[in-house]
Amino acid sequence: MDIFWFVLPLIFSVAFTVVIAFSPKRNLPPSPLALPVIGHLHLIKTPLHQALQTLSAKYGPIMYLRFGCRHVLVVSSPSAAEQCLSDHADVVFANRPASLATKYLSYNNTSLGFAPYGDHWRNLRRLTSTLIFSSVSLHRSAAVRNQEVRCLARKLFQGCSGSIATNRKINLSRMHYELLLNVMTATIAGKQCCMLDGMPDVTTFTNMCDYIPVLRWVGFKGMEKNLVNIHRKRDEFVQILLDEYRRNRDGFSSNKERKMMIEHMLSLQEAEPEYYTDILIKGLLQIMYTAGTHTTSITMVWVMSLLLNHPEAMEKARKEIDNNVEQGRLLEDDDLPKLPYLKCIINETLRLFPVAPLLLPHASSQSCTIEGFDIPEGTMMFVNAWAIHRDPGLWNEPDKFRPERFEGFGDEKRCFKFIPFGMGRRACPGASMGMRIMGLALGLLIQCFEWERVRDEELVDLTAASGGPTLRKAEPLEVMYRPRSTMLGLLSQL
Ligand code: HEM
Repeated sequence: MDIFWFVLPLIFSVAFTVVIAFSPKRNLPPSPLALPVIGHLHLIKTPLHQALQTLSAKYGPIMYLRFGCRHVLVVSSPSAAEQCLSDHADVVFANRPASLATKYLSYNNTSLGFAPYGDHWRNLRRLTSTLIFSSVSLHRSAAVRNQEVRCLARKLFQGCSGSIATNRKINLSRMHYELLLNVMTATIAGKQCCMLDGMPDVTTFTNMCDYIPVLRWVGFKGMEKNLVNIHRKRDEFVQILLDEYRRNRDGFSSNKERKMMIEHMLSLQEAEPEYYTDILIKGLLQIMYTAGTHTTSITMVWVMSLLLNHPEAMEKARKEIDNNVEQGRLLEDDDLPKLPYLKCIINETLRLFPVAPLLLPHASSQSCTIEGFDIPEGTMMFVNAWAIHRDPGLWNEPDKFRPERFEGFGDEKRCFKFIPFGMGRRACPGASMGMRIMGLALGLLIQCFEWERVRDEELVDLTAASGGPTLRKAEPLEVMYRPRSTMLGLLSQL
């Protein structure tokens, strides 16, 4: 018996040593010292992108962390981002990590933004490209955007009783969000949105319960309960739209020649009801709102904030519009290619304030090698667009607002130093749509109205604009405006 207790540990020790000695050595990327159980979670402060930027400055642009039970790769240089998001590794990293939030907010990971890479995801991408995102579809939906933006200009004009004498105050954040809700609803269903609160915003797609699963069982901070609630409200929002559409198809379509996305989806459902279920349709509608409204309206708020702090850039944009859009008519979607400086302003805003500073998390579906480092299967990856966009080695005076730096930049395809929409297979499919909506709306606002800060002596505070760890929120922005005297005639005809 005594010998048994002596031999047993010996056998275990020898077996353990043999396994370690003969298992292939992995060359993992640099990593700070990890604590048991929590790994590196103690190093993570909010906002996450800034905490990771600080750590990367010490451990390098390819860094390996452990958030509880999850292994995390953090990429913070264009060359590393290019390796992960192009060529062979793009397929490997085309997955999304499943999380508690994505389970509830994307119908159990079946909707476009969070479905695993594979046939179902490919089908959703193809479908949305044909219905919404392709240049042909965007050209067809230009009238919808023109109409909604004019509607906004009319409301603003009415808000100041058509007078240039006094400045009126307005909450620009609310105004941009309503515009985006209306554009999205008109694009999807051909009508204006009547539920102005929209869907609850989602600011993060991973949380503590994903990293330390035991927290989920003890109901940590009511996180799961909260997600169930948000899911219920979001589901109600799209269910109402779907039910209303089914009840009153004719009442919806404002343009009989253009079949709306929702109508296409319902026709597909009639042909293939097992695949095109209500859940699939609601998932697609939800992602259009989630991915399309907050991202675009928040960026527009930042553009206006930066322009209010840099009136010379606002004036330059206005001159460009006045020189390129004939007098006596309003800016339209088709005019945007003639306004390169306006595009530079939007790009510079996206560089300084990328609305998803870590993109969306990716996950590796198999092991791979990145810049000589071994990355195991199932690793979650963050690409730190924020750090890349503010790297002084890549950008001259990176913290300064200088739209001119983007002059001539538009042709640099696959440039990984500017990635506000991501890159590769999971890159944002709505990038062109977002750029067109922002260009048109901001252009028209600049063409028709004078804009000023509420207190002239105080700059708009942009540091207050940092928010949740994944998506960034804008603070409500109040501004003063009045119609331009040269535009009174046109505005009064709207
Ligand atoms: C300023 C505007 C926008 C910005 C900055 C933006 C940014 C992004 C980013 C960073 C991603 C993740 C890319 C990655 O993980 O590598 C993304 C994904 C996505 N975006 Fe956008 N986006 C914008 C507007 C839009 C619009 C208007 C729509 C649609 C109406 C849209 C639909 C989507 C969808 C569906 C995905 C998920 C793609 C997938 O996982 O396959 N986005 N967006």
